[in-house]
Parts: sequence; structure tokens; C-alpha cells
Amino acid sequence: MVKIDALAYVVAESTDVAKWKQFGEEVLGVATTEAPDGGLYLKMDERKYRIAIVKGEQDRYFASGWEVASPVAFKAAIAALEQAGVKVSPGTPQQSKARCVQELASFTDPSGNLHELSWGFTTDFARFISPVGVEGFVTGEHGVGHTVLPAVEFDATWTLFRDVLGFNLSDIFRHKFTPDPNEPVKRIYFTHCANPRHHSLALFEMAMPSGCVHIMIEVPSMDEVGRAYDRMLKAGVKLMATLGRHVNDRMTSFYMNTPSNFALEYGYGGLMVDWEQHQAFESTAVSLWGHDFTVGFK
Ligand SMILES: [Fe+2]
Repeated sequence: MVKIDALAYVVAESTDVAKWKQFGEEVLGVATTEAPDGGLYLKMDERKYRIAIVKGEQDRYFASGWEVASPVAFKAAIAALEQAGVKVSPGTPQQSKARCVQELASFTDPSGNLHELSWGFTTDFARFISPVGVEGFVTGEHGVGHTVLPAVEFDATWTLFRDVLGFNLSDIFRHKFTPDPNEPVKRIYFTHCANPRHHSLALFEMAMPSGCVHIMIEVPSMDEVGRAYDRMLKAGVKLMATLGRHVNDRMTSFYMNTPSNFALEYGYGGLMVDWEQHQAFESTAVSLWGHDFTVGFK
């Protein structure tokens, strides 16, 4: 069975990398260093980066970086994908170097989202020092956080992650934007891989031009969320959802826009789950309180 350990990193494409440097340092509170070909690394822990920015023609989400434990697990994941009829592209040595991993391979899911698989991250383990004093981020074995991807081909995409890559369902939500009875219900499946984070990947049954509904990064205290909120206001960054607490992963968070036109959830207190004890469920509310997403449409 394939075992994906974590969402090790995410990659965003940007027409103006300097905007990400400013957003990263001044609002997120991460440290940045230059990446190859005019890109940027956003450092959140002892690794070289957890968010990579590549210079490109569009402002959008680029790829989700899934890591496995070893070269054996890497080979097994590629073999499983190929057996399922998924075309896997081996990464070049330059691509592996740019992502700071031993080996890299990429594939596109049935909804068109690009994914990278890798093993063996490379780092000097230099400690994280935030330019604005953020004490740290909740990463480690739990990965960078979570990503919510558009999945128009919902069933085929979920089947791939479940049956080929070993993801499991955490819970379900069925979303409608309006009370119109003719509006089709859109499923959101919150799913986990082999670590305790409540969800590393959620699939949302709708199209999203930027390639991502949102990513989430987590800080170890509520004060860090509040300080980030202050920095967002000061920098004039657009709020995409007010402060709130989610029903399913119990994350207290707010959402803001990124320079690559997808939202970023900045949160605290997300559930870490013992999957042996977990029972999948359907929630009929997104949040216990707060999280007014209508502000993002204003
Ligand atoms: Fe989220």
C-alpha cells in the first residue's frame, strides 16, 4: 500500500515575486531566500522552505508537494500511479535541486491539479527566525498545513487519492453558495494522509481559476493569529473570511488573499487525530462561529 507522509510543501506561480517576498515577510512572518530562476523560498521551520514561489506568466497555485519516507516508498507510489493509468513525469536533477529533494516526480490528477511526489528533503537545519517575531509554525511530521483543491472531476479525483495514494476520508461537507434550489450541491471531502493532521488535502467540487481554493498554515498560539491579522490590515491585504472556528478541524483562523490569487488560512489549534479512533462524519455547518466568507466577494 502506498503511504504518503505529508504535504511537505506547496508551490505558487507569480508574475511579481517581490510581492510574495513582501507578503511573506511582512504579513505571514516567514523568512525568505532566493530560489533558482528568480523564484523565492518561504522558510517556516528548519527546512529550506515550505512554500516555494516560481516566477511565471500567471498568478496562481502551481503544485502540491507530497512526500514519502524513502526511495522504496517513492518507487512504490510511482508504480501504483502508473498501474492506475496515471502518467508520471520523472523530475530532472535540476527540478529536484530546486525543490531541495533527492528525487521528484510529478503527475496531474483527473481535475487538472499538478502534484509532485518526492523523498529525502535537503536542509542545513538552520533555525527559523521570523523577520517580524513569529515564534514558529506547526509543521514537522504534519507538513506545511493543508491545501484545498478544485475538483470538477470529483469522483475520479477522490478515487485516485483514496485507492491509489492511500488517503482516507476525515469528513464531508456539502456546500451551496446560494439558497437557490436549482444550484447544484458541491461536495467537499476533507482527507488525510499518514500523519495526525485532520486534513492535508480537501477536494472541492468546483472550478477555481487560480488552481486552489486555499492553503492553510498554522501557528502555535492564538496571539500569533491576532498579530498576523494586524499585519494583514496594516499591509492592506484583502480579507477573504473573518475570524472563526471550524467545526471539523476546530481550527481558529482567518483567511486572506495571496499575491497568487488564492486564499491563505492562518490558523491556530487544529485537531491532530488518532485515526484508529476516528469516525468519518458529515458536518452541515462550516464553522462553530465566524468565518464570514462573503467579505471575500466584496
Ligand atoms: Fe482550511
